[in-house]
Amino acid sequence: MASVRTTIKTIQEFKDRGERFPVLTAYDYYTACAIDESGVPAILVGDSLGNVVLGYDSTVSVTMDDMIHHTAAVARGTKRALVIADMPFMSYQTSPQDALRNAARFLQEAGAQSVKLEGGEVMAETIRALVDRGIPVMGHIGFTPQSEFQIGRRFQGRRNVEDARKMIRDAEAVQAAGAYSIVLELVPEQLSQIITEKLTIPTIGIGSGPHCDAQVQVVSDMLGIVSDHVGRHVKRYADLSDTIRAAVSEYAQEVRDGTFPTSEHTRPLSEDILKDL
Ligand code: KIV
Repeated sequence: MASVRTTIKTIQEFKDRGERFPVLTAYDYYTACAIDESGVPAILVGDSLGNVVLGYDSTVSVTMDDMIHHTAAVARGTKRALVIADMPFMSYQTSPQDALRNAARFLQEAGAQSVKLEGGEVMAETIRALVDRGIPVMGHIGFTPQSEFQIGRRFQGRRNVEDARKMIRDAEAVQAAGAYSIVLELVPEQLSQIITEKLTIPTIGIGSGPHCDAQVQVVSDMLGIVSDHVGRHVKRYADLSDTIRAAVSEYAQEVRDGTFPTSEHTRPLSEDILKDL
């Protein structure tokens, strides 16, 4: 496979050709290497980092420094994937100027090629400010985890027709502001189909049905790395938490009973040196 990095133009071409594409989150170097080598064209360093790696209850606790640190690790593990850094809570909501300063850090210090931020019409001015200054933006509407204390952790846009219309307006506003793609999280599938057909930029679904142009999953959910309960939007492709527990128990037992390590796992001193000793 050619070692050419995916760009936002490539992402647009996928939509234009009607070619669905996968996106995965990653938070560290070795997972990024595996995803990149598997040919997944885009990696999101999500602020889900807070829940799945840092052990917080909510993404609200994640800081710019946390995100820079992990985005840099992911970027070092990629050669081909587009790296998208999630802007954490209050790194962009305060003003377009703050958003610009913080988004620039992701490109300059962490090696990302794009940022993602949550919000529809209300974030249009901020998205425009970033895009006009050369920073590619992925939008994110529907369930937006940084607002979970306000909106609850649930499907959005399905209470009544105005609620659904508002979701369409938000998607259109994000596109009009210059975003190159948009995440639809926990959006009812018929509504995400309507949005996907209306927009010219790719929609990236999570829990939003099969009609989106792309899908994103949280890597630790789909690999079963943590044994916690996961939502209905997750499909488990592996159960690594069982594999990890079994391997750790076997290692611990072998250390305790002296079967690991053996002489095979070290290097001998030469006979001459040993004699002199
Ligand atoms: O933080 C994250 O992982 C995300 C995805 C779920 C889209 O925002």
